[in-house]
Amino acid sequence: MSDRPRPDFSALRGQRVLITGGLGFIGSNLARRLVDLGAHVTLVDSLIPEYGGSLFNIAGLEGRVVVNISDVRDAHSLRYLVQGQDIVFNLAGQTSHMDSMQDPYTDLEINCRAQLSILEVCREYNPGLKIVFASTRQIYGKPDYLPVDEKHLLRPVDVNGINKMAGEWYHILYNNVYGLRACALRLTNTYGPRMRVKDARQTFLGLWIRRVVEEQPFEVWGGEQLRDFTYIDDAVEAFLLAAVDERANGQVFNLGGEPVISLQDLARLLVEVNGGGHYLTREFPADRKRIDIGDYYADFNRIRTTLNWVSKVGLREGLTSTLSFYREHLTYYV
Ligand SMILES: NC(=O)c1ccc[n+]([C@@H]2O[C@H](COP(=O)([O-])OP(=O)(O)OC[C@H]3O[C@@H](n4cnc5c(N)ncnc54)[C@H](O)[C@@H]3O)[C@@H](O)[C@H]2O)c1
Repeated sequence: MSDRPRPDFSALRGQRVLITGGLGFIGSNLARRLVDLGAHVTLVDSLIPEYGGSLFNIAGLEGRVVVNISDVRDAHSLRYLVQGQDIVFNLAGQTSHMDSMQDPYTDLEINCRAQLSILEVCREYNPGLKIVFASTRQIYGKPDYLPVDEKHLLRPVDVNGINKMAGEWYHILYNNVYGLRACALRLTNTYGPRMRVKDARQTFLGLWIRRVVEEQPFEVWGGEQLRDFTYIDDAVEAFLLAAVDERANGQVFNLGGEPVISLQDLARLLVEVNGGGHYLTREFPADRKRIDIGDYYADFNRIRTTLNWVSKVGLREGLTSTLSFYREHLTYYV
């Protein structure tokens, strides 16, 4: 927790903002905050049924955001959508590691090729805008040392990690070569209201939350692995800081969270916060084991010192609000 003053986002009032993947978990939470701050927000999302987007994610925002259902692989739509925007939060992505192994070409098209084409239309039609890319800690692969800082070797262990790495570096390249103002946040496990809970496609924690709310046991695979978690409000704040601060341009930043925790301890904490529940511990399935990264937690000093970002919401508090959201709204997410 932090007692630092709230950052000043008044510069966002009246700004025209495009969020790709805006009907997804992080995009829709970001949209809510931006609308509150007085920005003019357009969401672009393909609503591909297997992914995390849903119109329920923007319930209550009707009439306050513009929604454009289109695919970031369609450069013609993007050419129109980026014009006149001040900021793009580029979050559209295929997020499943397993899906990227089973269907590598779709992951390549969305997480790599479409990223390049978004940057190309920005360069051609709106080179003055700022673009913040949602990257991932997955690009580090299995850590050589902990905590992992931004100088750690990039050695992805799955197709998704390779394509996200390329997507990230296209952004930095366009910043460095063409003067677009771009930066990337390497997110770790992000959780909170509107996260995917229907299955473990995006994160195991979503499925755990679903199961405890349904009063069903959940499974812990392994259990000793260490992880860090960022609550959604903290992640949203990092995106906003990266957007308004020119010192972010051309940079990549790790996000993280405290405390670092083993999956076994996280399972215990979830049951405790829920006031009951059960879990079973079992071996890692072989196909998951092959792409597992073992222990991971981030050194997030760079964003702390450059942009003054702090992780404010602790795990207990974050799990409490996430559970209370799904107790009320689970039917919309399963
Ligand atoms: N949630 C996390 O823990 C986490 C961790 C690391 C990185 N990220 C990155 O953050 C971004 C947002 O993730 P999220 O957790 O909100 O996932 P999400 O699945 O809820 O949101 C992604 C959104 O992108 C949309 N989308 C996918 N392909 C698209 C396409 N071709 N055209 C238009 N829209 C498309 C989906 O419909 C969905 O609404 C992703 O790029 C992801 O890689 C998330």
